[in-house]
Amino acid sequence: MKKLIRGGTIVTASDCYVGEVLIEGEKVAAIGEQLDEEHAEIIDASGCYIFPGGIDPHTHLDMPFGGTVTADDFETGTRAAAFGGTTSIIDFCLTTKGNTLASAIQTWHKKAKGKACIDYGFHLMVSEASDEVLQELGAVVEKEGISSLKVFLAYKNVLQVDDETLFKTLVKAEQLGALVQVHAENGDVIDYLTKKALAEGKSEPIYHALTRPPEAEGEATGRAIALTALANAQLYVVHVSCAEAVKRIAEAREKGWKIYGETCPQYLVLDISSLDQPNFEGAKYVWSPPLREKWHQEVLWSALRSGILQTVGSDQCSFNFNGQKELGRGDFTKIPNGGPMIEDRFSLLYSEGVAKGRLSLNQFVDVISTKAAKLFGLFPKKGTIVVGSDADLVIFNPHAKRTISKKSHHMNVDYNAFEGMEVKGDIISVLSRGKYVIKEKEFVGQAGAGQFLKRRAFRQP
Ligand code: URP
Ligand code: ZN
Ligand code: ZN
Repeated sequence: MKKLIRGGTIVTASDCYVGEVLIEGEKVAAIGEQLDEEHAEIIDASGCYIFPGGIDPHTHLDMPFGGTVTADDFETGTRAAAFGGTTSIIDFCLTTKGNTLASAIQTWHKKAKGKACIDYGFHLMVSEASDEVLQELGAVVEKEGISSLKVFLAYKNVLQVDDETLFKTLVKAEQLGALVQVHAENGDVIDYLTKKALAEGKSEPIYHALTRPPEAEGEATGRAIALTALANAQLYVVHVSCAEAVKRIAEAREKGWKIYGETCPQYLVLDISSLDQPNFEGAKYVWSPPLREKWHQEVLWSALRSGILQTVGSDQCSFNFNGQKELGRGDFTKIPNGGPMIEDRFSLLYSEGVAKGRLSLNQFVDVISTKAAKLFGLFPKKGTIVVGSDADLVIFNPHAKRTISKKSHHMNVDYNAFEGMEVKGDIISVLSRGKYVIKEKEFVGQAGAGQFLKRRAFRQP
């Protein structure tokens, strides 16, 4: 069955025009005006934008972390993502020292298969740079289609790696054409500061932020960048939260180095004051890096506008307040780090970005979809609307409004960090490879319909 979307305004990272989109099977078959298709199902998009489906390059679904497991798995997480206009995610596959990369990848495939409602790919964490692991990375990039490798410079004694591991990973990535991703915070400094705070009886959630200062992020960002340049490799800094990190990325890009950066809605919209609430409420706002002082927000918006930062990921990593975040009552270091964001990423960026005049429509599409497709080897199959691309489409009503709430969200979690916030614009229908996943705000997709995305090696966008 063909589908013809009529009456809408097509928006890509480069264009904005009134036009019709004809879908045949899984693909965009034609774009034009007054397309004559007798047998097509007509979808009326009058007054709406037609966006390429969102690509969320940073999710943690069904992931063990902080002594518990994320509340959303591949079924609930991708269903919520679809409600929120996202049609592809790239999730982080964790590895453990002493085990093969192949076994970790198999574990992640099992988590996703039969559950994902939208398409998904994996990034692979590197926890050690032994000869065996470095050897195995070739197959990961070339055969498994996993062309991005993640290292953590924080979470000491859990996920953190040393500079030797980071550097060996960068050297290998340069040979293989893999994009190295870094969680850039200085874990050793943070370890010292957290122990000191606890010894001084400072145990409330706010101390999570106060023991992870922006300088610790700036330093780690600068160090990772310097080692990347030395290896002539390519680096993507995840969840950039502050001016100190933006400055390092800007300087490196100015020199022509292959350095890229992502921020997240929480850093663009929330600030450190959220952590300073009574009744342990601040635990809902514990992310690493932490929320910063408000003035950092405009630095991040400006960096998105100017292209210093290229993408916005959700860093979806949801934990219930009851029973999970509560693990850290009396000791902020035991609060599982992360929050639910997969569903509201797209809406928040439109409302706080486009509707408030901080981003143009084209910039919005670029940061929410296109740049992620380009950086992670999916373009132009994903991330745009052209003949031949996957028909991953969002029909979006910019005139509607909605209020974010845990009562109406679809994430499997008992709070929403943006509870009560009104956002401009609403996602009406979402198609993934030509099939409705969301139709007139109702879920009509299917668990298991999402396909694994084998991604090509890194190319400079
Ligand atoms: O607090 C966060 N960001 N949780 C998820 C894990 C990570 O560091 O990305
Ligand atoms: Zn991280
Ligand atoms: Zn993350």
